[in-house]
Amino acid sequence: MSTPKFITFEGIDGSGKSTQSRMFAEFARNQGRDVILTREPGGSPGAEEIRQLVLTGDPDRWSAETEILLFTAARRDHLEKTIEPALREGKTVICDRFADSTRVYQGATRGDLRAMVDSLHSLMISREPDLTFIIDMDPAVALERGLARNSGEDRFEDFGLGFQETLRHGFLALAHDHPERCVLIDGNRTADQIASEIAAHL
Ligand code: ADP
Ligand code: TYD
Repeated sequence: MSTPKFITFEGIDGSGKSTQSRMFAEFARNQGRDVILTREPGGSPGAEEIRQLVLTGDPDRWSAETEILLFTAARRDHLEKTIEPALREGKTVICDRFADSTRVYQGATRGDLRAMVDSLHSLMISREPDLTFIIDMDPAVALERGLARNSGEDRFEDFGLGFQETLRHGFLALAHDHPERCVLIDGNRTADQIASEIAAHL
């Protein structure tokens, strides 16, 4: 693979994506790369506003279809304002969640809406990361970690363990279907152990 410039982290809530994307960004900077660390939903002022809309308030506020539109709208703004300009300047973009999250959260948890997610993606985004780390772990442990964090953005964490199990299988299926860009990482280890394995891929 040529040097990956657009790198994403995926996995269930509380799996350690934010921790690992931060550690990876620091590692890549120490290697002399010009790095931006960003996240979804969010990563641009407009997309951060959409994040507030979609992650706070009544968990039944939006239908799955409306959510697909909102997450895709946020992603489009993030891509236009943050990701593409940085890649054009030769920077490395490290992103905590991207389109794989919509494929799994909106595409596979409330009926099979994957075709809708894929259509909208090809119409509005049509860009894939060069490299995706999917952090796999026991949903019960991840849920405890996530809830302990008490972020106030519990829209999906509130749906419980069965929901997180469904998400885990969705991410495992993605890793299986896209070996050309996805690397599955065992998240049931210390943050330092995981970070060393991830760094070895750069
Ligand atoms: P995510 O972004 O996937 O939701 P975070 O990186 O925010 O996950 O981690 C969730 C919580 O678990 C945080 O409090 C973090 O400090 C802690 N954590 C992250 N990685 C590990 C690890 N490998 N072992 C134990 N705790 C961890
Ligand atoms: P995030 O801040 O990464 O949460 P966590 O740190 O708990 O993993 O993401 C917020 C929530 O948004 C998370 O529950 C996953 C959800 N989400 C979707 O449902 N679809 C999407 O396309 C994205 C990017 C996130």
